[in-house]
Amino acid sequence: MRLFFAFWPDEGVRAQLAHWARELHAACGGRPMRTENLHLTVAFLGNVEDARIAEVERAACDVAPRVASLVLDQPGYWKHNRIAWAGASVVPVEIETCVAELRSALERSHISFDKKGFVSHVTLLRDAREPRAMPALGAIDWKLDGFALVQSVTLPRGSRYEIRKSWKGRTTA
Ligand code: 2AM
Repeated sequence: MRLFFAFWPDEGVRAQLAHWARELHAACGGRPMRTENLHLTVAFLGNVEDARIAEVERAACDVAPRVASLVLDQPGYWKHNRIAWAGASVVPVEIETCVAELRSALERSHISFDKKGFVSHVTLLRDAREPRAMPALGAIDWKLDGFALVQSVTLPRGSRYEIRKSWKGRTTA
């Protein structure tokens, strides 16, 4: 089963991200992600045997999910993978801490995941070309209230992401 942990936006934030995707598409073309799939990856596990899924979920239960406000104010483009994305110029400490705790909990449980450093970004377009200039876009205020374990299901039309389980936070750490 192909799994990853992610911050999952609500419908309002998804709609604003879809608006960004349309504006960016006009500037750099590419393949828009389906609106219902938009997310911010915390840790990408890849294929996990069914027998280990309970361990993955147990590891996540050791993490205190935080409530935090993430302001997406920075559209970006990476040449190396031709992705256009939505990012935040400031990542709140609650989010950095939550990501670090989750990754440590996975390591303690010997659950493998992609160790590339966390770079907060929501992929909006793939196979995009470098834009001449980034469009000016209104900031998106995303109230994060926890994280989710997501399963990627491969369909002939592309991937569909299904939330298996969510961990919701409180305001105090
Ligand atoms: P991306 O959007 O920057 O490509 C599901 O594939 C999610 O996991 C995507 O958000 C993807 O990030 C992320 N991801 C992180 N590491 C990955 C990897 N090694 N292979 C595939 N997806 C990865």
